[in-house]
Amino acid sequence: MAKIGIIGAGTWGTALAVLLNNNGHEVMIWSIIPEEVEMLRTKRQHEKKLPGVILAPNIDVTGDLEDAMTDKDILVLAVPSPFTRSTAHSMRAFCKEGQKIVDVAKGVEEKTLMTLSQIIEEEIPQADVAVLSGPSHAEEVGKCIPTTCVVGAHSRETAEYLQNIFMSKVFRVYTTPDMLGMELGGALKNVIALAAGMADGLGYGDNTKAALITRGIAEIARLGIKMGGIPETFYGLTGIGDLIVTCASVHT
Ligand SMILES: NC(=O)c1ccc[n+]([C@@H]2O[C@H](COP(=O)([O-])OP(=O)(O)OC[C@H]3O[C@@H](n4cnc5c(N)ncnc54)[C@H](O)[C@@H]3O)[C@@H](O)[C@H]2O)c1
Repeated sequence: MAKIGIIGAGTWGTALAVLLNNNGHEVMIWSIIPEEVEMLRTKRQHEKKLPGVILAPNIDVTGDLEDAMTDKDILVLAVPSPFTRSTAHSMRAFCKEGQKIVDVAKGVEEKTLMTLSQIIEEEIPQADVAVLSGPSHAEEVGKCIPTTCVVGAHSRETAEYLQNIFMSKVFRVYTTPDMLGMELGGALKNVIALAAGMADGLGYGDNTKAALITRGIAEIARLGIKMGGIPETFYGLTGIGDLIVTCASVHT
């Protein structure tokens, strides 16, 4: 059993809180939004973002960042990418040496083009930063629908430790050392997914979408490899897997 602080109580943070609690861990969720803290505490579900996914009574909810981080084995950073830097900056003061932080958000910073794990490492140099990514809609994870993800970390020890923390009968977790490739795949797929949405809007069909996905992953891989990612990563769960789930989605 691990003590886990979930930093960010949106759709994904809430679904992961339920998954990790079901796995037998002690979970506390933090939100910067007081109304969200109040709603999760009293209604025991995120009525706006994830209705019907119930927070068990033993999941704690707090608006106090220090409280959410104190004595935690793992921190799951689940705020959307525009808030990654500011949240990591606020977290720094409460972070112990070697604190494991798993970033589960996707994106790159607009001004610097840094990945989210790079931003966290810059803001919290004492942390052991890892990432979790893959084809995983929160709505489905919240309903225990079989899902696969990948943990990327700098050390095999951290990757395997986190793999065991997240792994369940319905949530299968693989590991990789290629954090950069994972993060680039998860961010770049959104460009192609926007085009897939436009194709839908224009009334185009499956042929168009298949073309976008197939040629899209080739472009993502070319760019990602040039930026330092490993080729296999782009043809795995965090590359083509995430691209397919986003382009074909009824949720996104
Ligand atoms: N939703 C999914 O299915 C899913 C799955 C995998 C990965 N992700 C990734 O996880 C990240 C979060 O996605 P989401 O769907 O939970 O987003 P969301 O829009 O539901 O998250 C919003 C939450 O962010 C927090 N927040 C808002 N403003 C903030 C601020 N100024 N500072 C700190 N926190 C603030 C609040 O808790 C708010 O509810 C994204 O990068 C997304 O790509 C989402």
